[in-house]
Amino acid sequence: MKILAIESSCDETAAAVIEDGRRILSNVIATQIDEHKLYGGVVPEIASRRHCENILAVVEKSLTDAQMKLSDVDAVAVTYAPGLIGALLVGVNFAKGLAAGAGKPLIPVHHIKGHIAANYIAHPELEPPYICLVASGGHTQIMRVESYTKFVTVGRTTDDAAGEAFDKVARVIGFPYPGGVHIDKAAQSGDRTKYKLPEPHTVNPYDFSFSGLKTFVINLAHNSKQRGEPLDENSLAASFQYKVADILTSKFVAAAKEYGYKTAALAGGVAANSGLRSLLEQRCAESGIKLYIPPIALCGDNAAMIGSQAYYEYTEGGVTAPDDLNAYATMPLV
Ligand code: KG4
Ligand code: ZN
Repeated sequence: MKILAIESSCDETAAAVIEDGRRILSNVIATQIDEHKLYGGVVPEIASRRHCENILAVVEKSLTDAQMKLSDVDAVAVTYAPGLIGALLVGVNFAKGLAAGAGKPLIPVHHIKGHIAANYIAHPELEPPYICLVASGGHTQIMRVESYTKFVTVGRTTDDAAGEAFDKVARVIGFPYPGGVHIDKAAQSGDRTKYKLPEPHTVNPYDFSFSGLKTFVINLAHNSKQRGEPLDENSLAASFQYKVADILTSKFVAAAKEYGYKTAALAGGVAANSGLRSLLEQRCAESGIKLYIPPIALCGDNAAMIGSQAYYEYTEGGVTAPDDLNAYATMPLV
């Protein structure tokens, strides 16, 4: 089954053709990052307008790259939640028109389920059940993936998402948006033991809280500037990155053990972080847990992951969109 998938939830206009949920026939991403960078973050109206301008060319290229015509695909899929509402609406409306015009089924996909599915493309042997750590710009949660379409939440952030904390700390250090990748680079030449950072507390042991940690680092940077003291930016980046990776990893591995999982996966934009990848690999190996991580190219937003999840939504869940499908800025995963 060949699915043409569309993703426009934030600042990437993306389209891909995916075969049987696992094989990429094409994967096109038009990023708007350079423009949003000027403002230090995503400007929702600009994002919507750029999606509007780019979507036809991106979808056409995904078909051309796959050497296919619209009539050759079996279904159209689209991210319908969560994300920036104006951005989502562009993709949803485009996909609705495309599917209706071509007489193909339309499959709505939850963006975070798509992030998890990126692992199916990269790892043909991975099948549920397994436990997944999702860390992106808007979400941070531990999920039990019971089947391709059945998820149970074990824990989630009670305030900021991990990616959000990375981006805000990066901003105060002086890195451009999105800052996570710059923290990652700076951390490689820093001393992670130089700054002592606080350990956040949560009522549920598998929930996360990054807001206090983020504020502590921001205050530390401001105070040192006010006092005219030099800030060791690389070491602050390294200390912060290690702290976040340590929190995510220790809670995730503890949850995997408590619920008896021997298979685990990482997903979301923050899964690209080298400190998180290596610490999680090390701790999963120590605990005898087989860990799957998507390649960096599939960690950030893309439509291939949406096409993968769409295949399972359709074949396992029998999901197709109603005629009045809408887009939603927020929607729980389960
Ligand atoms: O999943 P994603 O592409 O978009 C959302 O669905 O939110 O995640 C974007 C987030 C941003 O906060 C970005 O800074 C972060 O992922 N990110 C990273 C790295 N690469 C992307 N954070 C830390 N280290 C990285 N290497
Ligand atoms: Zn995302």
